[in-house]
Amino acid sequence: MSSQGRIRHVIAALLTGGVTAAVLMLASAPRAQTPAPAAAPAAAPSPAPAPAAAAVAPGSIPAAEVPFYAEWASSPHAKRDAEEFNHWNKEGNIPVECARCHSTPGFLDYLGADGSTAGKVDHPAPIGTVITCMACHNSKTVNLTSVTFPSGVTVKNQGAEARCMTCHQGLESTASVNKAMGDTADDTVQPKFEFINVHYASAGAMMFGNIAHVGYEYPGKTYIGRVQHQAPYTRCLACHETHTVAVKVNDCMACHKEVTDKASLHSIRVSKDDRAGDGNDNEGVAQQIDHLRAQLFAALTDYAKTVAGKPIVYQIDVFPYFFNDTNGNGTPDKDETKFPNRYKAWTPRLMKAAYNYQFVTKDPGAYAHNPAYAIELLQDSISDLGAKVKVDLSKAKRP
Ligand code: HEC
Ligand code: HEC
Ligand code: HEC
Ligand code: HEC
Ligand code: HEC
Repeated sequence: MSSQGRIRHVIAALLTGGVTAAVLMLASAPRAQTPAPAAAPAAAPSPAPAPAAAAVAPGSIPAAEVPFYAEWASSPHAKRDAEEFNHWNKEGNIPVECARCHSTPGFLDYLGADGSTAGKVDHPAPIGTVITCMACHNSKTVNLTSVTFPSGVTVKNQGAEARCMTCHQGLESTASVNKAMGDTADDTVQPKFEFINVHYASAGAMMFGNIAHVGYEYPGKTYIGRVQHQAPYTRCLACHETHTVAVKVNDCMACHKEVTDKASLHSIRVSKDDRAGDGNDNEGVAQQIDHLRAQLFAALTDYAKTVAGKPIVYQIDVFPYFFNDTNGNGTPDKDETKFPNRYKAWTPRLMKAAYNYQFVTKDPGAYAHNPAYAIELLQDSISDLGAKVKVDLSKAKRP
């Protein structure tokens, strides 16, 4: 049987057999955070109030025999207690703007696999789901090979990875930033502006560089398109395991001798070019990106204080990330990182730089997804702030 046939067979069995309840139960049970023990029967005790009999109905498949169940269950997609799947608990449902990527019913709705219009979410989604088998394996994903990015650009022929990129693509783009900035002059503070947050882990958008235009691309500059890397390592599933989504570190070792474990991926360096302009020939491309991020952050804070007139701080895990540095100590203190104290002295120049800072910072795999694009965005953001504050990129080579 073809692999596609196999999956459909399994999914069909899951849908029709009594195991449906078992798998759905397991998929939504808190212990789905950890892999199900290999020997666990499908009828393993579950807090869900489904009758145990359903799980052992004749013809059903024990969860332990569902292919890739354990792999999936250990993945972040099954992490039932993650903020990503609980953010809307108080509201009681997930709004249409968020449901596509944060729930299985929302993704099915977006795809049109629930019979609704494809390409949009029609209804708020119920809370309490993770990204289950059904999200990636259904009548629509079988043929899904294209992906539309937030810029409106559609890329075709992406195979199974189109699924990944339908969620890992961010929410904004060069065009949406330009639109929001309107005709406000570069260095004019516009109190109506709110921080434009591109979102998180936008790997697909990073990988497609100036084809997707999700980074803020400055006028007059050129940007790299899809990541350039040895084939097939320009595809999500060449570098990530399909169901655990862990990085295949052993594969990298074959060509990158500096790799010994996951942490050492950060020391991968092939090009001799000094992209951070810090004269360090030994640092990995991930470290070069970190150093550029630090330079951009220094320029940002300098600009915020001297041009926008209000000191700024950044707190990586508190929405909306940029806050007023009310006591001017340069640190995001607890009493500062609160929504009412969010940064409000945005100028277009500061917004664009902060947007790119966030895009690269919130993609911890940027150095592998498209290092050249990340570096170009950071360097250009630094240069642009350089119109108003002191920066030094004289030794930094642009890719
Ligand atoms: C296009 C897909 C997509 C849409 C639409 C989307 N998100 Fe997300 N969101 C993601 C992904 C992917 C992550 C996971 C990032 C990670 O943990 O690696 C995420 C993470 C988050 C997180 C965790 C934040 C953190 O700092 O770790 C929150 C909160 C969140 N999203 C809120 C929202 C809200 C609110 C909306 C609707 C306005 C929304 N998302 C719409 C894809 C999306
Ligand atoms: C985040 C998306 C995603 C989720 C969730 C997911 N899969 Fe998959 N799965 C894939 C992709 C992508 C492939 C490879 C392309 C294909 O064959 O469709 C795949 C392949 C498979 C295959 C065929 C493998 C082969 O060797 O031919 C099976 C069987 C399968 N998945 C079962 C499951 C089951 C069961 C679950 C839930 C426990 C699950 N998948 C959850 C994305 C996913
Ligand atoms: C329906 C939306 C959706 C699809 C499809 C999807 N993801 Fe995810 N992905 C998410 C969300 C939401 C999270 C965050 C979950 C969490 O933090 O537990 C995530 C987390 C991840 C992470 C871990 C991020 C972290 O912060 O540790 C990786 C890696 C990943 N996905 C890769 C993939 C790959 C590869 C595919 C395709 C096979 C894929 N994803 C398909 C929504 C999706
Ligand atoms: C078959 C050989 C091969 C494998 C396997 C491979 N790479 Fe590479 N990689 C290269 C080559 C060659 C380059 C430099 C030229 C290019 O960009 O294609 C490179 C460049 C890179 C760079 C950029 C380095 C720089 O200085 O700009 C990173 C980061 C990287 N690879 C990460 C990875 C990761 C992570 C993996 C494993 C998931 C991996 N590579 C697997 C051959 C490989
Ligand atoms: C060249 C190999 C390579 C390719 C291609 C690749 N990734 Fe990654 N990815 C990595 C590496 C390496 C990391 C960072 C791991 C680390 O340093 O923690 C990463 C990190 C991630 C993360 C964030 C995990 C976290 O810890 O927050 C997500 C999500 C992700 N990748 C999804 C994808 C998706 C979706 C695709 C396809 C659009 C993709 N990746 C393509 C190698 C790759």
